[in-house]
Amino acid sequence: MTPPSGRLAIFPGSFDPLTNGHVDITLRCAHLFERIIVAVLVNAEKKALFSADERVQIVREVFKEYPNIEVDTFDGLLVDYARKRRASAIVRGLRAVSDFEYEFQMALMNRHLEPTLETVFMMPAEQYTYLSSRLIKEVFMLGGDVRGLVPSAVEHWLRKKQAVKA
Ligand code: PNS
Repeated sequence: MTPPSGRLAIFPGSFDPLTNGHVDITLRCAHLFERIIVAVLVNAEKKALFSADERVQIVREVFKEYPNIEVDTFDGLLVDYARKRRASAIVRGLRAVSDFEYEFQMALMNRHLEPTLETVFMMPAEQYTYLSSRLIKEVFMLGGDVRGLVPSAVEHWLRKKQAVKA
């Protein structure tokens, strides 16, 4: 078997929506790996505010100036997608101890499914450790200020969603 292409990492997630914490992790990864794929989960069952197409559009817009950051979608098992893309690592952000149990379970299950694929955990900048997509949606929809917590493209898209709902 040919070895996986060197230093391609996948950063998978729902990204509903992308936060500055996700951006921070992606940019940190871009220094460590030759190429990064931000892989947006297409999951029809999970109730998302943004469609997969919208999430991809947003992420593409945010990283358009980074030639080594690709944006793609995936469904099914992450390890199957990683094999298909010949990635050597999965990157996940760890914000707080509360993330650890779920992330640990996923990492070990993924390792069970594909032992050659490593999971790398990265910590975002401190000011983003309390951020989550779920909280951003809640705060924004209830009229709170999310400036500085999400890229401006996300603010723009959130306002569009709000206008549709109004
Ligand atoms: O941003 P999220 O929602 O925390 O990301 C979770 C994600 C997309 C990484 C996880 O749900 C996933 O990998 N889903 C794909 C299905 C899969 O491979 N499940 C087994 C994981 S051990």
